[in-house]
Amino acid sequence: MANIFVIKRKISSFFDKTVKVGGDKSLSIRWVLLASLAKGKSKSFNLLKSDDVKASINAIKRLGIKVKLKKDICEIYGKGLGGYKYKKNIILNAKNSGTLGRLILGLLVNSNEKIRIIGDKSLSKRDFKRIADPLKKFGAKLKLTNNRYLPLNILGTKDLKPIKYYENKGSAQCKSSIIFAGLRTEGTTIIKAKKSRDHTELLCKYLKLPIKFLKKKDYDLIKIKKAKKINSFNYRIPSDMSSASFFIVLTCLTENSSLTIKNVNINSSRIGIIIILKKMGAKIFFRNKKFYNGELVADIFVKSSKNLKSIDCPIRLNSSAIDEFLLIFLVAAKAKGVSFFKNLSELNQKESPRLKWGSKILNLIGIKNIVTNNSIKIFGNPNINIKKKIVIKDYLKDHRIFMSSTIAALIFGGEWYIHDKDSVNSSFPNYLKVLKEIQK
Ligand code: S3P
Repeated sequence: MANIFVIKRKISSFFDKTVKVGGDKSLSIRWVLLASLAKGKSKSFNLLKSDDVKASINAIKRLGIKVKLKKDICEIYGKGLGGYKYKKNIILNAKNSGTLGRLILGLLVNSNEKIRIIGDKSLSKRDFKRIADPLKKFGAKLKLTNNRYLPLNILGTKDLKPIKYYENKGSAQCKSSIIFAGLRTEGTTIIKAKKSRDHTELLCKYLKLPIKFLKKKDYDLIKIKKAKKINSFNYRIPSDMSSASFFIVLTCLTENSSLTIKNVNINSSRIGIIIILKKMGAKIFFRNKKFYNGELVADIFVKSSKNLKSIDCPIRLNSSAIDEFLLIFLVAAKAKGVSFFKNLSELNQKESPRLKWGSKILNLIGIKNIVTNNSIKIFGNPNINIKKKIVIKDYLKDHRIFMSSTIAALIFGGEWYIHDKDSVNSSFPNYLKVLKEIQK
């Protein structure tokens, strides 16, 4: 039972609390990778200490970079753009992290030795062709398992050619990896990218690297030139909107409660869940707005919301809510009316097929839904109240399935046995501690 989390009743106490969640995962991994190429000592504050970020640190250590991970601070001693030193045939383990697995490839397009990238069971089922294809156009050689999967081998070239590429999946991981490759390549790389989170662009701008981006209505246009040098830099990482979202939904759906979550990144490419929930009638406010190194940050104040209504979710909000749909489906389950979410095939490309899992969880709690390969219709029931036993297992240790299931248990009731508790370590090791703090 040690790795099974059991919840036997609904949340009982009404709460009014202030909490803090961990540092943003996307920014933490990007900082580790860029600091490894900077010249000299870079320092970060509030770096997320999760398995995905630790795997990133281990990867740069294997590339010869010194790292000191302290309680609140992390120091990386970068050796400049040509500074990686490693033995022949090294293996980098991206574990569960798609962000690490894909972004690091963009930094290795000029490696002069073959490097092997491996991952865990979940990552080994995910699509790497989407990033191997553009990186091959630069001139790097990539050999994938069955042409699509990890393990893969990459061998770079000194003769990189700039590319013009249309990133049409809305994948920030692919876009960022191509940006990294562009920073290593003479000439101008041009990306037309379907909308996705823009942390890499903002971080490159903050570092004064040769990047220009233009935001159009439906896509972004990004131009990148070869970077001559990256200066070492100190960086404060805001808290993660995706981690905050579990408690935002818990508060919305718990009576007479309110919650403040401190210093959360409210970058417009990450707040889809807030916009969607507000359209459904949720009471969520941003307070004390400020900037951390070019990223917008605020305290999020959220109150219980009665009478939530269904939504026909505009597809333009999909990319900025991409990691939060399991939670949004729970809100739709409790809302009055039929909600509709479409163009969501990318959800099945995550740590587990999340669109399928969203439907499966709704079936388990008795909420009628109609799911296809890229859409789901949810027939909400504001009076939902579960009495039965529910077991969540065999979900490839997808951290967001674990955490969303705990929220479902606390708001809908029933007796839940949620396997693989340790899956939270990928993105939010303190999750259960914060959850307990809210219920105290
Ligand atoms: C991420 C991009 C998104 C997101 C993931 C983190 C990033 O993935 O789902 O959790 O840090 O760039 P895709 O690029 O596959 O959309």
